[in-house]
Amino acid sequence: MKQDMIVILDLGSTQNTAVARAIRSLGVYSEIYPHDITLDALKKLPNVKGVIVNGGPNRVVDGQEIDVAKEIYQCGYSVLAIDHPKAKNMGISMMEKLPEEEKMAEILRPFVLDNCHAEQNWNMQNFIADQIELIRDQVGDKKVLLALSGGVDSSVVAALLIKAIGKQLTCVHVNHGLLRKGEPEQVVEVFRNQMSANLIYVDASERFLGKLEGVADPEKKRKIIGAEFIRVFEEEARKLEGIDFLAQGTIYPDIVESGTKTAKMVKSHHNVGGLPEDLKFDLVEPLKQLFKDEVRACGKELGLPDSMVYRQPFPGPGLGVRCLGAITRDRLEAVRESDAILREEFQKSGLDKKVWQYFTIVPDFKSVGVRDHARSFEYPVIIRAVNTIDAMTASIEQLDWPVLLKITDRILKEVKNVNRVCYDLSPKPIATIEWE
Ligand code: XMP
Repeated sequence: MKQDMIVILDLGSTQNTAVARAIRSLGVYSEIYPHDITLDALKKLPNVKGVIVNGGPNRVVDGQEIDVAKEIYQCGYSVLAIDHPKAKNMGISMMEKLPEEEKMAEILRPFVLDNCHAEQNWNMQNFIADQIELIRDQVGDKKVLLALSGGVDSSVVAALLIKAIGKQLTCVHVNHGLLRKGEPEQVVEVFRNQMSANLIYVDASERFLGKLEGVADPEKKRKIIGAEFIRVFEEEARKLEGIDFLAQGTIYPDIVESGTKTAKMVKSHHNVGGLPEDLKFDLVEPLKQLFKDEVRACGKELGLPDSMVYRQPFPGPGLGVRCLGAITRDRLEAVRESDAILREEFQKSGLDKKVWQYFTIVPDFKSVGVRDHARSFEYPVIIRAVNTIDAMTASIEQLDWPVLLKITDRILKEVKNVNRVCYDLSPKPIATIEWE
């Protein structure tokens, strides 16, 4: 990293990432470290221009007040303490309560720019140029493997690595048969045809559907999909010769949150990992300093299409957890087609820019209807559209009737085996975002 940096020391504030993001929005790089970092470790970090001691009401742990090492206040760095009584004594500016993120940047501006004299050179062009150099240094003339799901993070990693090392990168795109309409085709089009990547496309749909046949329990389904995914990826990796590195789309929140997450597991999430011990790779993680919006900005800068860069979150097990119970081909088709209609109509009405996540679900029961003057017995489609900041809680998007009616009309006319459309009004909690 060549950029100047402001270090945030975490004394239990819930606002650490907001402060880091506010500083980055000023064009100055910032990272968060635990409060018990030693002065030596702090001094080893590159280009530190100032330190923010970020406290808040949580800085008392088990009745004990926690603080950073005393030497840090006296070692010559500019120090700003937030919500910290000591700050008053030391004559350092203090804020009683942090304002919302946008205003925060303005409040921090004098400290960052005037006190610390940090240079405003944090931007995506510099980040990409730095990373290309770092990736080339790390990888040399060796080969790198990437599981390219088509999600935002792995797509941006792919684009960055293609730029840095071209054909030394091999991307593997596993189609588990539970992807959305048009997704595998887009991955092939963008990466193989437009970016000339080394792309191995594996259509494992039949294999996954076979493994999932008759399995109705949501956790079992998730585990089968996750394990099978690793197996397919592993088989492809074994076919390749001389791979030394595995690239991953780890991003900054994954690093900041790991270790501090105490939340009880509600569902087993699946992402690539857990490769067998004998397949040992070194990791290339070029996005590990970026927040999600920066990952998107990086992807745009690298020329990825908006539909990829602004893609809504999509779970690893894909449509498998939206085709409820034991997956059948007719219901999977109904989920895929109704989801495509929903996405198309959301895009037409601009809702795709406003709503965080939206999709359809097809349950494993039928209801009675009437079609062409005769009784029908077909599946319902459930629409879900939610807004959230961190996916831990979610509220319902209050969709306008005309949009809902248009989508309903299209689903009933265009999707086979469906005779009813419902809208899910449940927030998280009590519900979760996905149905399984
Ligand atoms: P829930 O259903 O737990 O979902 O409220 C919260 C968010 O996580 C997404 N999700 C996943 N993402 N792998 C992922 O990468 C998974 O296995 C997975 N399961 C759920 C879900 O779509 C929602 O955005």
